[in-house]
Amino acid sequence: MELYVLRSKEEIGLEIGRRIVERVKQNPYIVLGLATGSSPLFTYEAIVKYSLAENVSYKNVTTFNLDEYVGLEETNKQSYRYFMNENLFKYLDFKKESHHFPSIENMSNYDEEIKNSGGIDIQLLGIGSNGHIAFNEPFTNIDEKTHIVELTENTIKDNSRFFKSINEVPTKAITMGLNTILQSKEIFLIATGKNKSMAVKKMLEGKYDPSCPASCLNLAKCKVHVYIDDECYEGIK
Ligand code: F6R
Repeated sequence: MELYVLRSKEEIGLEIGRRIVERVKQNPYIVLGLATGSSPLFTYEAIVKYSLAENVSYKNVTTFNLDEYVGLEETNKQSYRYFMNENLFKYLDFKKESHHFPSIENMSNYDEEIKNSGGIDIQLLGIGSNGHIAFNEPFTNIDEKTHIVELTENTIKDNSRFFKSINEVPTKAITMGLNTILQSKEIFLIATGKNKSMAVKKMLEGKYDPSCPASCLNLAKCKVHVYIDDECYEGIK
């Protein structure tokens, strides 16, 4: 696990965005694993900026998102499909059929689909204040592949900031499992702000602790790059 401490979330976005665009230029058929939430927003902004400036095409790129709520239409502003369209997909020349999101219908084949596409070359991750990655909450079985989850009160509360009221937050989601994520060929995790410090601290202890799902990345065979900002670092020291 490699730790990078940068000044701000904007700087992290520019740095990871630049690295991803370089990789797309090297391999136009790259398979990207994507996250939603606030953590990757500046990364997506940077990917769009650099790609448009350098005329980088995404027509052969495949994407697999980490998770999606159950019961929200693609047109619902809180759905992760809507989020991805608005923050990344619509600006670049992706083919619509190259995007994959886990759902009730495809969840039992999702890992197989990832494998058949050649596997995820770069997986982007955020981290929850309780150490969750995707919707894998504390004490999730590390062998889980893509599956359905009941969201914990903590996550519903965290995510309610995106909804009009807490009652509108779906209670179920489909998520890649920890096992799915660990199959990636390279991982970039972003954690910014003080409320992520405790989870990051646990993850950086170097061993797998089921109370902090992100710490499973210590068992990854691939490179894991952890990007945090000064504020998050302050809370770890
Ligand atoms: C989203 C996802 C979640 C978020 C996490 C952090 O696809 O998988 O695990 O990465 O909840 O959310 P933010 O970035 O909003 O702090």
